[in-house]
Amino acid sequence: MGILLKEILAVLPKDGKDEICRTDIYLQGDKIAGIGAEPEGFSGEKVIDGKDKLVIPGLINAHTHSYMALLRNVADDLTFEDWLFGHIEPIEDRLEPEDAYWGACLAILEMMRSGTTCFSDMQMHIHQTSRAVSESGMRAVIARGLVGSGDDEAGQSRLREAYEEKEAWKDCPRLTYFLGPHAPYSCDEDFQRIVASEAAKNHMGIHIHLSESTNEVENIRGQYGASPIALARRAGLFDGLAAAAHCVHVDEEDLEILKECQVSVITNPASNMKLGNGFAPVPDMLAKGINVCIGTDGAASNNSLNMFHEMNLLGLIHKGVRQKADCVSAREIFRMATIGGAKALGMEQTIGSIEVGKKADLAILNLRTPSMTPRNDLLAGLCYSANGSEVETVIIDGKITMEDGKILTLDEDRIYAEISRICRRLGIEKD
Ligand code: NI
Repeated sequence: MGILLKEILAVLPKDGKDEICRTDIYLQGDKIAGIGAEPEGFSGEKVIDGKDKLVIPGLINAHTHSYMALLRNVADDLTFEDWLFGHIEPIEDRLEPEDAYWGACLAILEMMRSGTTCFSDMQMHIHQTSRAVSESGMRAVIARGLVGSGDDEAGQSRLREAYEEKEAWKDCPRLTYFLGPHAPYSCDEDFQRIVASEAAKNHMGIHIHLSESTNEVENIRGQYGASPIALARRAGLFDGLAAAAHCVHVDEEDLEILKECQVSVITNPASNMKLGNGFAPVPDMLAKGINVCIGTDGAASNNSLNMFHEMNLLGLIHKGVRQKADCVSAREIFRMATIGGAKALGMEQTIGSIEVGKKADLAILNLRTPSMTPRNDLLAGLCYSANGSEVETVIIDGKITMEDGKILTLDEDRIYAEISRICRRLGIEKD
């Protein structure tokens, strides 16, 4: 289907920076076919009037655990250990596979409504999540969460499951698979080594949690004589495409390794602060030339999957804590949420910006809202005054998945009903 976005304000890249211009944008099939001039052979079947609208590249949520949308607001104001081992894991143990499908649907609904068109997931219910992604029209990179020691059978069977899922969905262009060694405290060095060689053999990227808490860093140093980041490099996890969530407690040597190995850092400001872990030194990472992108983490620890909220928080914490208002800019933050995420997923040639030839993954915002009025610096507005409710139309892979506020690809009422049923069974939803 051909779609013309007529005379619309658009965030377009120019010389490595973003600027806002009014233009016509032509979408044909799954791609952006033209900007400004009509491309040859364009057959427009639909016109979206750009009056009072702003089109942005769809946001990329580079670290989440989608099914955990089920566990939103069930365990709050607890220490990290009490949160994870005392509350979240006992509920997770009672989840049935189909619960994860509805959890993923809820997560996708929330992300789509707030302008996210691609997410990078780490978890064990990959089959149910793949189904939800396929049906919803969303784009996702799904990493099978892996825990293991040495070459134990449990770790091996999870690896096999990852390959089977990758093979099963090889014809869906919106699904990509990574390997997700969970963290250095759940994957020992030998197992990390095995995962690294399997990733290389199967041309898969790595998605891992690293240096999230001071406890983790101290324990890993005690056990291996290396920081979590140095250990991951030693095990070969950084030999190919790799993205590391958190990287909160890092030293100069860690930053050197991340830079040298071209590892992308996924910062998760809300989750890191809510669990009392601190936050990554993003301005230092940017100054070093490390690719930084943004994730929400799961809804059990955020508790939202709204990338506008995350962009806002990212800007404010660093300015406030450093008492330095120019240490990170709205323009840098917006790029982290778009092309930075694409780079972390090895997809910067296909998504992350509005350019001819790239996939048509777009979010259209209504500018007739208090948060975007007056129309001064709209890029600043995206980071500091927007809240995601301005998003009214979403296009992914050239298909409209949400139009004028209505989700076209998911049954929203059914999702709410199923989530309620599941959470009552689990005893976590009351009246
Ligand atoms: Ni996480």
